[in-house]
Amino acid sequence: MRILTTISEMQSASGMSRDRGRRIGLVLTMGALHEGHLALVRTARETCHWVVASIFVNPTQFGPDEDLTKYPRSFERDAALLEQEHVDVLFAPTVEEMYPTGTATTWVTVDGLSDKLDGRLRPGHFRGVATVVTKLFHIVEPDVAFFGQKDAAQLAIIRRMVRDLSFPIEIVGGAIVREPDGLAMSSRNVYLDGMERRQALVLHRVLSQIRKMHEQGARDAGLLASFGKHEIALEPAVKLDFLEIVHPDTLDPVASVKDGALVAVAAWVGETRLIDNIILPPDQH
Ligand code: PAJ
Repeated sequence: MRILTTISEMQSASGMSRDRGRRIGLVLTMGALHEGHLALVRTARETCHWVVASIFVNPTQFGPDEDLTKYPRSFERDAALLEQEHVDVLFAPTVEEMYPTGTATTWVTVDGLSDKLDGRLRPGHFRGVATVVTKLFHIVEPDVAFFGQKDAAQLAIIRRMVRDLSFPIEIVGGAIVREPDGLAMSSRNVYLDGMERRQALVLHRVLSQIRKMHEQGARDAGLLASFGKHEIALEPAVKLDFLEIVHPDTLDPVASVKDGALVAVAAWVGETRLIDNIILPPDQH
């Protein structure tokens, strides 16, 4: 595995692979890798000739009061894990390389989606994500890019952006990878202490209960959401940011889940903000 840190090195390595007709796969990450990231890397490895993974803790997607400076970093370990997965290139630019002026000056905003779900509570977050993903897409020029369903709003925004800006890139979504007890894997889970770790399980438990109610015939999104909020309120250490039932592409609230829906939840457990979601499939006609 080669480790590249400059944009020009990355562009020329990618150019050479493309000239050889290789199908280029890209997995974008902020590091502190876990099985969720590695599942995406494995799918890329199975379906592409040449796999690039990136590690870049992108400052433009963090709000002023968020955890940019304490975001977990474990570069040596991450590089070893990617090497084990037979990644061809690890692209790990510095902030100065990506943003010579310290921040972005040209921004990509996906109107109508960037202010939904997480975007409503984290203003500017999805603008930072869309901007850095655009930049990394231009640098690597992959044929396929892999994103996790864990960040469902991010995935919807990237899909829309790729369509709107006619990127010749296929976007593949990967299922949420969970700990054995159901907690969705996240780089931020390391912030949780033992007690918080147990309290955090309420999110998966409530989503599973909503899935079961759906299987048993419940279709009213308002009722399902009220049930979920009520259950989470019973766990006093968990402070709900939102539990919303929306259309998976538009992220607009739905009244009925009969045509399929995304149930997305975000909550604080102590000082740690966690997100999780499930997709309810559409009724078969
Ligand atoms: P990061 O949080 O490091 O996640 C990188 C990729 O891994 C994203 O596509 C995310 O959805 C996926 N992922 C994280 N946890 C997962 C899990 N438990 N199961 C499946 N996939 C999971 O998302 C970002 O970084 C950044 O916003 C980025 C896209 C890199 C832009 O900076």
